[in-house]
Amino acid sequence: MSVAMRQRRITPQQLITKKEQGEKIVSLTAYDYSTAKLLDETGVVDFILVGDSLGMVVLGYENTLSVTMEDMLHHLKAVRRGTQRALLLVDMPFSSTNIDIPSAIANAARMMQEGQASAVKIEGATPMTLELVQRLTEMGIPVMGHLGFTPQSVQTLGGYKVQGKSMPAVRKLVADARALEAAGAFAVVLEMVPTEVADLVSRILSIPTIGIGAGPGCDGQILVIDDFLGRFPDFKPKFVRTYAQVGANIQAAVKQYALDILSGEFPHPNQESFHFPMEEMDALRVLEQSSSTQVFSYENR
Ligand code: KIV
Repeated sequence: MSVAMRQRRITPQQLITKKEQGEKIVSLTAYDYSTAKLLDETGVVDFILVGDSLGMVVLGYENTLSVTMEDMLHHLKAVRRGTQRALLLVDMPFSSTNIDIPSAIANAARMMQEGQASAVKIEGATPMTLELVQRLTEMGIPVMGHLGFTPQSVQTLGGYKVQGKSMPAVRKLVADARALEAAGAFAVVLEMVPTEVADLVSRILSIPTIGIGAGPGCDGQILVIDDFLGRFPDFKPKFVRTYAQVGANIQAAVKQYALDILSGEFPHPNQESFHFPMEEMDALRVLEQSSSTQVFSYENR
């Protein structure tokens, strides 16, 4: 395909325009080539996030804290190969952005250069994060913020808890959201915050809010693909709607496969097998007869 014919990728500015035009933003996570390609080819997914939820749903960790830059880059590259249309967003994993600004910039630059991400997502709004968002935006790396429940802070937040449930917490959330917008973020994820609070933040900001457990008033929605497809067995958060029963389908398929092998029904000799040329069958029989009478040795094989 020529460069001119290639599908143009959705840009951060197009997501902002969607908000201005009152059009909702659709997004999901993906971590591998095939899933990314399936999502992208629907033509209805605006952005695909290679989230550090990877740590839990793909790598089997208890939380996202163990995920490394190398893990993210490995999966980002696979997703990149499967997408042409959707904006490709990647999570900056725990500790990749909060040791110091120069190493955070270098890590974000790797996501863009090696992984060919369209943008990066960073959790929280500490003074250092805000400075980083500003520096990255100035150097041409678009940043999406992430407020409310921020999984990389699960230890300090004391578990998977709804955030912004008191007026002081709401004031802080609003101030953080405004600060991220002022620093140059092009959108903000709001995770596990009350609907009324997410509505308020969405009205105050000019940039889109992307909700996950933040009610219908956000400018867009995101779900973790494994939750969405019903293939993550460990737990199902309240805010997830399961659109398919992939986990149950996988298990049913595996049980049928085992039954078919045990009964001799799989592989079928006419459908899932290859055959030796008919005219050579006599030679095959002769070989079998001679093999059964000969003592095998490596010298005469
Ligand atoms: O890592 C992730 O999948 C995320 C989403 C929950 C927004 O950050």
